[in-house]
Amino acid sequence: MSQPVYPVPAKWAEEALIDNGRYQEMYRASIDDPDAFWRREAKRLDWIKPFTQVKETSFDEADFGIRWFADGTLNLSANCLDRHLAERADTVAILWEPDNPADQERRITYRELHEDVCRFANLLRSRGIGKGDRVTIYLPMVPEAAVAMLACARIGAIHSIVFAGFSPEALAGRIQDCDSRIVLTADEGRRGGKAVPLKANVDVALAHAPGVETVIVLAHTGADVTKVDRRDIDWTSAAGDQSASCEPEEMNAEDPLFILYTSGSTGKPKGVLHTTGGYAVWAAMTHEYVFDYRQGQIYWCAADVGWVTGHTYVVYGPLMNGGTTVMFEGVPNFPDASRFWQVVDKFQVEIFYGAPTALRALMAEGDKWVTRTSRKSLRLLGSVGEPINPEAWEWYYRVVGEGRCPIVDTWWQTETGGAMITPLPGATPLKPGSAAFPMFGVRPLLLDGEGKILEGAAEGSLVIADSWPGQMRSVWGDHERFFQTYFTTYRGYYFSGDGCRRDADGYYWITGRIDDVINVSGHRMGTAEIESALVAHCKVAEAAVVGMPHAVKGQGIYAYVTTNVEVQPDDELKAELIKWVRQEIGPIATPDVIHFTPALPKTRSGKIMRRILRKIAENDTGSLGDTSTLADPQVVDHLLATSPLAE
Ligand code: WT7
Repeated sequence: MSQPVYPVPAKWAEEALIDNGRYQEMYRASIDDPDAFWRREAKRLDWIKPFTQVKETSFDEADFGIRWFADGTLNLSANCLDRHLAERADTVAILWEPDNPADQERRITYRELHEDVCRFANLLRSRGIGKGDRVTIYLPMVPEAAVAMLACARIGAIHSIVFAGFSPEALAGRIQDCDSRIVLTADEGRRGGKAVPLKANVDVALAHAPGVETVIVLAHTGADVTKVDRRDIDWTSAAGDQSASCEPEEMNAEDPLFILYTSGSTGKPKGVLHTTGGYAVWAAMTHEYVFDYRQGQIYWCAADVGWVTGHTYVVYGPLMNGGTTVMFEGVPNFPDASRFWQVVDKFQVEIFYGAPTALRALMAEGDKWVTRTSRKSLRLLGSVGEPINPEAWEWYYRVVGEGRCPIVDTWWQTETGGAMITPLPGATPLKPGSAAFPMFGVRPLLLDGEGKILEGAAEGSLVIADSWPGQMRSVWGDHERFFQTYFTTYRGYYFSGDGCRRDADGYYWITGRIDDVINVSGHRMGTAEIESALVAHCKVAEAAVVGMPHAVKGQGIYAYVTTNVEVQPDDELKAELIKWVRQEIGPIATPDVIHFTPALPKTRSGKIMRRILRKIAENDTGSLGDTSTLADPQVVDHLLATSPLAE
């Protein structure tokens, strides 16, 4: 069957910022003369002191380092707010839609946002927070989350957002890892009609994180919450007491902007560190080009600020570009499966950027939930977070976009700061399921197992050959781990952890993680993290976790568990373990399958043979491959006989 290709609509080719010829030209220029290219792109920001050096980067061990625009200074909050005040103070910056459609939306102009950010920045300063201090943010999707981020950026504090779906234990670990003295939260969040007890979670977390001196609590739902004297303060009244002007801190381009914890293939989550100048240029540039964004357009990225997509494409990118960004507190299927498209109609959204997992869930509900809405305002659709299967792509294209809207399938990572491989709507003929071509300045390569560069049509490990401005700079508190994790698998290259195929036309097709990371509903989970949660349970001796195919989530979590000998592995214990993992990490880590086994398949040297565990979890047991190095091959027979997936 030949691969469908959707040509660039004539109107897009004519009117977009970048057509195909321009893309080729700019891409060449960005690779041939990065210095000149980035000098020009960096002009999109207001610098306090201009930089002289563009790029000092090396991925080699001997002189390893990543610095962009390093002697320039700027303030990112001023770039998102102050510089828009002269011309667009009354433009809506944030359009907020609550979880419950019966509640009131909020429209916050640049003038108002600037004021709120200044007041909150002054409040942070009054609590002794300044340049370089870490601020943990545990908030629902409310405008105050953006206010908090921008206030940190204004005074040079480093924000660390913890997704509001994480458990108190996970929150405590993240607070401690970066030694935050302050936590910003709300009484409760709301999602899909349910309340999320954020303040109560913080109280539990702080029992394990005694270094926190201040908790600022936003009264969001008005729920009754406990108040700890001298530690807890009320957001609205305390910010209201502050002045509405606040001098932005002059930040060096390489000063840290934020930490965002993400799961890796080993150990505990790592604090991905992004710095100011390079990240800002990358966020603003990619937001403009990928979405062909022009001021005045209503733009909606349906990600949570707890993930990097929310950082770059809900808050920083659109606000640097003077845009109007929609922030949605709710979920796609509450009160019903029309919710996304009703919000599109309500705000006349032109650009919608969402995740494949949500699309697959909505697709399963049937077309009527979509077709009963207008969606006439939509012009461009985006996808992010995991590979989008061609069926979901076609549904998105035909049913949601009525064949009228290009789809930008953007491949990137927490580590990359912004989109790395993506179509551009005015430039790229689309192939459903392919992220297409590299963004400016990005040099993707495919390597084989020996590290040899593959040319032409090929499949291998996706690496990036040279630095780009939005690249993470370190793992918080562990620079060595940064180097080890990303630059030692293939010497001299950034290793993405993803597998990828390039077709004869040069299109890139991400095939998914090739390390021990799984992608559940677009959220990254380290299998090691779930394993250590399971093993921490008193009845568990050993655990091995792998991904399994899941129709809606993309991947589900399949856990092999060996209990302590005296324990009876039964359904009751299964339920107990599931509850335990949710409590240790959060609901996103809920195992889909728990498979009890008296032993795990191991080589004679004691290494778990994950390949076999993956095959069983995929119910692909016809060819288990070479099992001759197993210490006890009977373990596999037992697993096959007890597999819950086998008919
Ligand atoms: C991993 C990164 C991108 C920000 C949100 C997730 C997978 C992401 C795509 C895509 C195929 C994708 C990769 C990547 N991924 N976008 N368009 N096509 N795969 O960020 O949590 O850091 O996860 O998500 O496997 O490595 P993240």
